[in-house]
Amino acid sequence: MSAELRVERLIKKFPGGSAAVDDVSFRVAPGEIVVLLGPSGCGKTTTLRCIAGLEHPTSGEIAIAGRVVSAPERGVLVPPRLRNLGMVFQSYAVWPHMTVRQNVSYPLRHRRMPRAEITRKVDEVLALVGLSEYADRSVVALSGGQMQRVALARSLAYDPQLLLLDEPLSNLDAKLRLRLRDDLRRIVKDAGVTAVYVTHDQAEAVVLGDRIGVMRDGKMLQMAPPADIYNRPADLFVANFTGASHLLAGRVIQRNGEFGTIEVSSGDHLSVWLPPGVGSGEAVRLAIRPENVRFGAFASGEPNRFTARVLAQHYQGAQTIYELAVLGGRIEAMQLGTSLQDLVGTEVEIALPPTLCWGYPSDDRTAAT
Ligand SMILES: Nc1ncnc2c1ncn2[C@@H]1O[C@H](COP(=O)(O)OP(=O)(O)OP(=O)(O)O)[C@@H](O)[C@H]1O
Ligand SMILES: [Mg+2]
Repeated sequence: MSAELRVERLIKKFPGGSAAVDDVSFRVAPGEIVVLLGPSGCGKTTTLRCIAGLEHPTSGEIAIAGRVVSAPERGVLVPPRLRNLGMVFQSYAVWPHMTVRQNVSYPLRHRRMPRAEITRKVDEVLALVGLSEYADRSVVALSGGQMQRVALARSLAYDPQLLLLDEPLSNLDAKLRLRLRDDLRRIVKDAGVTAVYVTHDQAEAVVLGDRIGVMRDGKMLQMAPPADIYNRPADLFVANFTGASHLLAGRVIQRNGEFGTIEVSSGDHLSVWLPPGVGSGEAVRLAIRPENVRFGAFASGEPNRFTARVLAQHYQGAQTIYELAVLGGRIEAMQLGTSLQDLVGTEVEIALPPTLCWGYPSDDRTAAT
């Protein structure tokens, strides 16, 4: 029983502060997982708390399954317990004096569900999160990752129509975090519940989300499937926050549909993708991901082919990062593979695929710092 979530022009101002959530609108389809991604303080938790009803919005409207639960201008504010939500937070919200089964069944007993039904439902959700064998163990004898699974099982046990998760993995060590990250998507999808997941970790967002909403300063900058966020970031901030280097300054020479030619300080010309509204003569910043810089011998017709000098290299085991002097500046290039080639001081041929080179307006207010 999953529901659609609709958030319309949500604004939340705390007394004396500027807007923590500043005119945010989005929809989450039934059964969809949307991840809110952004740096600390950008308003992710506040957005989630408004959806939960734990925070009173200043204005805007929130509807769950077509029912308006928050509309301050019309005096509508449905309390959290009547919104039929599951919530999982960063801290392990489990009751330490209880077993796993007692923890998960507590909300069901509270709702006066028949005993046999409770047993069936608890067995079902414990299987879903992979904790069937731990049902009778005290929760204090569990690892952090297992405790988070208990919290997740408990929030799924009463079939919420919407699941809200706020950095549920951030207290776990790196290895456990990776494992539970992969499991979480499967568990939420198997449960079929609509979910909003908050994180500042881009890798987590990409693995978990059907769509990612990138936030900054209370604003939603872009909401799109992970591959679109990675391949067509809406602005320099989104590009930078998801791993593209923010590089060379240039100027648009000519625009052709979605693409255009820019000139950089060395006088070299490049074909790049340009966001809507960026025209001839405009100053731009070229952004590209290190993993999209190609090395090798290229055919003469290859666009954006340049000779670069290798300034430094950083071997990272599974990949190597090369710092290159090219186009009158510096860019980073990543090569996958464990082999180590000493290229420092040599010249290499590189190609920058035009669809993966982006020229953002350099006076962009959202430019990364
Ligand atoms: N109860 C409050 N009173 C006043 N200001 C608040 C309150 N809660 C949050 N804020 C402010 O609202 C802004 C957004 O905070 P929020 O907790 O939503 O950020 P976040 O994106 O979840 O960050 P983090 O990644 O650090 O958890 C911040 O500037 C924060 O200081
Ligand atoms: Mg937060």
